[in-house]
Amino acid sequence: MLTVVKHTATSVVTIERFIIEEERNHPEATGELSGILYDLALAAKMIANKVRSAGLADILGSAESENVQGEVQQKLDIMANEIIVKAMDHGGRLCAMASEEEPGIIQIPEHFRCGKYCLLFDPLDGSSNIDVNVPVGTIFSVVRKITRGRHGELEDMLQPGRRQVAAGYVIYGSSTMLVYTTGQGAHGFTLDPSIGEFLLSHPNIRIPENGRYLSVNDSYENHWSENARTLMRHYKGLESDHKALSTRYVGSLVADFHRNLLGGGIFAYPSNTKSPHGKLRLLYEANPLAFIVEQAGGAACDGTRRILDVEPTELHQRTPLYIGSKNEVELATRLLAGQRELALA
Ligand code: AHG
Ligand code: MN
Ligand code: MN
Repeated sequence: MLTVVKHTATSVVTIERFIIEEERNHPEATGELSGILYDLALAAKMIANKVRSAGLADILGSAESENVQGEVQQKLDIMANEIIVKAMDHGGRLCAMASEEEPGIIQIPEHFRCGKYCLLFDPLDGSSNIDVNVPVGTIFSVVRKITRGRHGELEDMLQPGRRQVAAGYVIYGSSTMLVYTTGQGAHGFTLDPSIGEFLLSHPNIRIPENGRYLSVNDSYENHWSENARTLMRHYKGLESDHKALSTRYVGSLVADFHRNLLGGGIFAYPSNTKSPHGKLRLLYEANPLAFIVEQAGGAACDGTRRILDVEPTELHQRTPLYIGSKNEVELATRLLAGQRELALA
């Protein structure tokens, strides 16, 4: 029988054009959110550029140390933090920012206009991997201001993740990719370095319902709860007829998450006796990735609650995290609640 191969027309769509087209679905939109996303894409390109030459840091750093002012080489995560702050503080769209690298809220300088959004970000995720040339990333989250004053306040930052209006991440890998959502699906763009543009490469990402990969640092196994240990044995196919997942752990959340988003899988960072609240940060890491994974058909929980429903109480709050394919996260929720028989049904 003759098989007819259908060719779908592919067109080159820049992130800018895509954002504009998405905005058209919202006649009430003022373009402010779109502006934030362009500016973030620009900051991502600047950070990608620094990350690419990270291996040269020592060489450049030693030259720098001869500087009469005695300037020292900045760490890349501090550099990434500054790039984002400088790219975002003057657009007139933000009322404040919060970064994993800074203890308090970052206010918009007095001489710039304040807007109606807050930006929260992890400037360089997995930064300990930089020295060994392993992918790192940037994670961001945007929420609408809810307080009345000109500047953003703590209350604006401490909104549950379900109130995010946009979220995304950038992975600085073998290629640089930006994935974002505004609640209309999760879309991925790959940086074409020859023209310096992010081009739509992964429209409407869907995460497989079942996992293929398990990403967990099981050197903490002895410090997990008994339920978490049992859960991991299920994922590894040692406890039930659950298909054995392949273990993959980069140690950069963005890289582990990205692989699992495209290929199916679960990233788990349980609480342990050394870090009873887990390690990952709710506002800068868990919430934005949870928004993306849900938009892609996956799920995220802290063991008992949907991540996006957790009410934050602190800027740098940590959370246990189970994120990825829907069925794997559901298994986590059931097993961690102790309902072992349900999981096996
Ligand atoms: P960051 O570099 O932003 O501080 O984040 C590091 C995080 C995350 O990227 C990764 O998944 C996790 O730390 C790894 O932790 P362990 O080394 O404890 O496994
Ligand atoms: Mn991080
Ligand atoms: Mn970081």
